[in-house]
Amino acid sequence: MKVETLAVRTGGAPDPATGAVSPPIVLATTFEHGAASEKLHGFLYIREDNPTQVRLEEALAAVDGGESALAFASGMAAGTAYLQAQPAGAHVLFQDDLYYDFRNVAKDLLPRWGLSATAVDMGDLEAVRAALRPETKLLWLETPSNPLMKVCDIAALAEIGRSNGARVLVDGTFAPPTIQRPLDLGADVVLHSTTKYLGGHSDVQGGGLVFRKKNELYDATRHLRKVLGGVASPFNSWLVLRGLRSLGCRVERHCANALAVARALAALPRVSTVHYPGLESHAGHAVARRQMSAFGGMLSFQVRGGRDAAVGAVSRLKLFLPATSLGGTESLIEHRRSSEGPTSQTPDDLLRVSVGLEHPDDLVADLQQALA
Ligand SMILES: Cc1ncc(COP(=O)(O)O)c(C=O)c1O
Repeated sequence: MKVETLAVRTGGAPDPATGAVSPPIVLATTFEHGAASEKLHGFLYIREDNPTQVRLEEALAAVDGGESALAFASGMAAGTAYLQAQPAGAHVLFQDDLYYDFRNVAKDLLPRWGLSATAVDMGDLEAVRAALRPETKLLWLETPSNPLMKVCDIAALAEIGRSNGARVLVDGTFAPPTIQRPLDLGADVVLHSTTKYLGGHSDVQGGGLVFRKKNELYDATRHLRKVLGGVASPFNSWLVLRGLRSLGCRVERHCANALAVARALAALPRVSTVHYPGLESHAGHAVARRQMSAFGGMLSFQVRGGRDAAVGAVSRLKLFLPATSLGGTESLIEHRRSSEGPTSQTPDDLLRVSVGLEHPDDLVADLQQALA
């Protein structure tokens, strides 16, 4: 079945007790078990598993084509659980342009967890090969990346990982499974902040890991989730599952709108650079064409005149809302360096945009007046 169909249907079997077509939100924290804690109904305690979260995991695994998935309370909870599951002494190779809180984790926490990390431009395969160490166990890709929209070749990097005994994780938060399926390209794990496109309405926080194989790292990550408590709540699982139902059509419109906005921005004299993989001028366009069926709803651009010009443009916008996060129905914009804070390495003239589902003409007109 096609991914759009899987997104609509998986994990959606009618409730066996009532026939309800929309699955129940099971709020129970504990479940009847046998005299010696036998799992009579498949569940024991909420921090381990609950029925609504299990439905979501079934759907997450299906849309990314993995054997298994784990749902978390946030994208950060998901990503850090996978990092903590790495063997002691492991080295992690991160992409150089990376969601800034994972950069903070690499800098502040990995050493405390007995892991080491370096950053490399994943678009440069020779640089990746050169950065590998005997103890490198994980290549962490973000494609397209946040906020520079860099694209890296998942298949080529999966091959490099495989031949060097390292697993490959792709943070696919900017590219949901209806447009990019990293496991089909050889990656081992996909990470999603389901807070974004999968939830889709800026009203739920969550994270997901989808595993190509239900292997020992799946077991280790699942164990960490149970003992550290980062599991997704029943209500949030339900909201993400609900969002997933319309993922295919929402993402189509996000992508079409983003392409229209990117092209319009590229024509504005006050804009120096537009970072959008759907533009032929983008350095990663050819790779993106190969591994994505559309280019996503995220883009960033740089404004001539530096920080003041960029921030000034944001203040003149009427339709784009200045706010962080992404993947909701409404268009958002932010001066990324301000939101990342003092450790930011993002250019000062850069604005990041989450293109929503409004009519593209209205979005383009708003940007044109703000950057006139
Ligand atoms: C690429 C990427 N990965 C992971 C995360 C973290 O997700 P969450 O905010 O759900 O913890 C974000 C958040 O913006 C992100 O942009």
